[in-house]
Amino acid sequence: MPPRRCFSGLTHVAATAVRGKLANVQPATGDGDLIFPHGFLWGVSTSAHQVEGDNHNNQWSAWEAAGRIKSGDRCGRACDWWSNAERDFDLAQDMGINALRISVEWSRIEPRPGVWDQPALERYREILRGLRQRGIRPVVSLHHFTHPLWFEAMQGFLAAEAPALFERFTRRVVNALGDLCQDWVTFNEPNVYCAMGYAVGLFPPGRRGELFTTFKVLAGILRAHGRAYRAIHELQPHGNVGWAHNYVVFEPLRPGLPFDRWIAALHHSLFNDSFVRVIAEGTLPLGFGMVAGDLSEARGTCDFFGLNVYGRLYVCFDPRKPSQLFGNIFVPESVPQGDWGTEGPLAEAYPGALRVAAEYAARLGKPIYILENGVPDAQDRIRPWLLVNALNELHAALRDGIDIRGYFHWTLTDNFEWNDGWRLRFGLVELDPATQRRTMRESGRLFAIIAKRNRIPGELVKRYEGNGVATVTKELTQKGPA
Ligand code: BGC
Repeated sequence: MPPRRCFSGLTHVAATAVRGKLANVQPATGDGDLIFPHGFLWGVSTSAHQVEGDNHNNQWSAWEAAGRIKSGDRCGRACDWWSNAERDFDLAQDMGINALRISVEWSRIEPRPGVWDQPALERYREILRGLRQRGIRPVVSLHHFTHPLWFEAMQGFLAAEAPALFERFTRRVVNALGDLCQDWVTFNEPNVYCAMGYAVGLFPPGRRGELFTTFKVLAGILRAHGRAYRAIHELQPHGNVGWAHNYVVFEPLRPGLPFDRWIAALHHSLFNDSFVRVIAEGTLPLGFGMVAGDLSEARGTCDFFGLNVYGRLYVCFDPRKPSQLFGNIFVPESVPQGDWGTEGPLAEAYPGALRVAAEYAARLGKPIYILENGVPDAQDRIRPWLLVNALNELHAALRDGIDIRGYFHWTLTDNFEWNDGWRLRFGLVELDPATQRRTMRESGRLFAIIAKRNRIPGELVKRYEGNGVATVTKELTQKGPA
């Protein structure tokens, strides 16, 4: 079992209350169909830099210009959404998708401090209208890894003014788009942003091993999040505001060995628990509050818990890895996994991760949205199996009474995967970035069937049953495109 030590019992009561409400989710019907609650959101998630194309004023474009994208690819036009997102909205509509998460690109909207680009806001209005006209509910993230170069130059979220600047940006966006959108994600994966940028060094600004700085940045984001949450509610009292949290199942390799369990629990606490603990209780775990200062203003600032879940990592004690807090974190060869990126496999493709993450999140006592879940898989070798089984686990969590309101797959169309560029393909729809040609994958067809019927047909449950090791052949676990 993954480590479960987490934020305190106070939320347990609320979680129990939320659980009670959903006791009416049906078990499988006679023909084995798994039916989802009425109004369940079947969505896909995207982010501005990964799909829009031609973003040249944020820190990721500078990272690319400096030759830091590991795959050597160029983002270029990406999926061409800045000129034609509507082509993919048509596709989404045809697939029965009823919700779509985008992000707004701060560097387009505020290209210089205090200077606002009205045509950019107008384009976002057009995008949101385009979704609504197709019966698709928009969810907007305000920060998905990228921000303007001027903001990065002042040290991003380490700067004392960062929370106020982010609040000012948030107000501008909500004033401009608020009549078209009510669902807001303040930040995408603060834990990944901080860890990758300041501990691992694979995201800009590329700093490594700076544990205290990592927590200072997290604290800056928490303050910015808290201010944005309050600002949105002031402007839009019925707004639905949360953040997207990356949850990893850290599995001790040898559960019988206390060292493996402790190291797994430590990584769980630092990575999974930190942000959540502040939202739940107002303080960081493990004494990091000393570095971060008073964060009590962020307590209680969420209306929902957004979860991004990609699977499971194995952890064992390794005295040779002080920089990883004496943990070797890896993906065994024998488990199902998607294509390999430049740094190896992302995680074990583990359908059960969704249920574990949902159980964890339920303790906050708020509705849950799965805001990302997927696998890099250019040939669609493993995605159909993963999709059907992850949704099966999600349905089990609903039957347990966990209040999950929607599932957003990452992603609709292959897009620019950060350091892995075009090498990793997460789309339900394949994209050739050179020609912009789209080709539906089998997993896209499956997703459409499930979304349109609001159920997993029993026949699909049967077709893909198995634990993955049995059904996923060697071919399925091969190490990605050449
Ligand atoms: C991020 C996405 C990314 C996906 C796949 C998530 O952590 O939010 O931007 O493309 O993972 O790696």
